[in-house]
Amino acid sequence: MSTSDDNTDPGNNSAEPALQYGVADGSFRAAGGEAGILQLVQAFYRHMDELPQARGVRAMHAADLALSIDKLACFLSGWMGGPRRYMEKYGSIAIPPAHAHLPITEVEKAAWLACMEAALAEQDYTPAFKTYLLTQLAVPAGRIVVLQENMGRR
Ligand code: HEM
Repeated sequence: MSTSDDNTDPGNNSAEPALQYGVADGSFRAAGGEAGILQLVQAFYRHMDELPQARGVRAMHAADLALSIDKLACFLSGWMGGPRRYMEKYGSIAIPPAHAHLPITEVEKAAWLACMEAALAEQDYTPAFKTYLLTQLAVPAGRIVVLQENMGRR
């Protein structure tokens, strides 16, 4: 994740230094560590099951979402500066090529991000961190679409 100049936790009034999102494991800790990330990803896939605009994206996944939940939670742990669980369990991954077999346009990207926004809304995170995460996740999501365009899909 990239750093930002304006990413301190505005709700932190204690003597603890404010969490710096995108710096070291600041995002990982703001997300509640591995337990918090798992809760976020479970909510994300629950919304994917329920949101009408996500029906097409849901259909690209296996009927049983358990593996997808584990893979995304493992990936996000390392991506947020925490333990690199995806690498440990599944090996190396680059997000755009990992999606190259799927038909993903701006429509699917918007649906994916809508599920994430709905999941974030339920979490006990500061508004600033929710906005930060959604903005940061839109970056790799956009790269997936660009790769698809470069492959001549659209
Ligand atoms: C742009 C919208 C996106 C769509 C429509 C999408 C869709 C999917 C689908 C359908 C799968 C399952 C693939 C399969 O079982 O063959 C998948 C896997 C995965 N996605 Fe996404 N995804 C998107 C964005 C992202 C983003 C932004 C990230 C990370 C920040 C991500 C991380 C992953 C990971 C780690 C896997 C597991 C890959 C593997 O081990 O095979 N995805 N995605």
